[in-house]
Amino acid sequence: MKVAAFVGSPRPDGVTDAIVREVLSGAEDRGADSSLFHIGLLHIMGCHACMKCKKTGVCILDDDMKPLFEELKKADCIILGTPIYFYYMTAQMKAFTDRLFSLIGAGFESRLGRKKTVFVVTQGADDPELFSSQIESMINAWCMAGLDIIETVQACALESAEEVMEDEELMRQAFLAGQRLTGTD
Ligand SMILES: Cc1cc2nc3c(=O)[nH]c(=O)nc-3n(C[C@H](O)[C@H](O)[C@H](O)COP(=O)(O)O)c2cc1C
Repeated sequence: MKVAAFVGSPRPDGVTDAIVREVLSGAEDRGADSSLFHIGLLHIMGCHACMKCKKTGVCILDDDMKPLFEELKKADCIILGTPIYFYYMTAQMKAFTDRLFSLIGAGFESRLGRKKTVFVVTQGADDPELFSSQIESMINAWCMAGLDIIETVQACALESAEEVMEDEELMRQAFLAGQRLTGTD
C-alpha cells in the first residue's frame, strides 16, 4: 500500500507539515510505504487551458508537476494538506489542483480512478466553522479529479510544529486518520 502526501504550505516545517507527518505515521503503522512532497517549494504553473489533455490525458506543461502526476498514479491513497490563505487554499495548492484537470476525462470521469484521501487544513482563525463553505468547495474540486476525502483533520490557531505536537487530541486524530486511510476500519 502506497501513500503519497502533498503539502501546499511554503513552510516545510510548519503546522500543516507536522499534522500531515502524523497522518503518515498512522498509515505507516498499518504497513504503508509513504512519500511526502512539499508542493509549496516546487515550481508548478497554473493550467494553460490548451485542452490538449482532454484528448491525450497528458499535460503539456514541463515543470515540477510532471513527476507528481506519476506519484498520484502510483499511490493507493493520498493526503492533501494546505493552510487557509485569504479564505482558500494556498496559491501553490491551487496551481497543483488546477493541473489535476488533465486527470479528468472528456466525460468528467477521473483518469486516476478513485483514491481515498485525507485532507489536512490549518488556519490562523480559532473558529473551526469559519471556512466551512470553502473547505466543502475544496473537497468537491478534488472529488472531480478522483480524490475522495474520507476525513478532514483541521487545526485552528496553532503557530508552530511544536504546538501541534503538544496537542495530544489533534495528534491522535491525525494518527487515527492515517490508520483509517490505509486500513479497513
Ligand atoms: C498569506 C497568508 C494568508 C493567510 N490567510 C488566512 C486566512 O484567510 N484565514 C486564516 O484563518 N488564516 C490565514 N492565514 C494563517 C495560516 O492559515 C495559518 O497560520 C496556518 O496554520 C499556516 O500553516 P503552515 O504553518 O503550515 O504554513 C494566512 C497566512 C498567510 C501567510
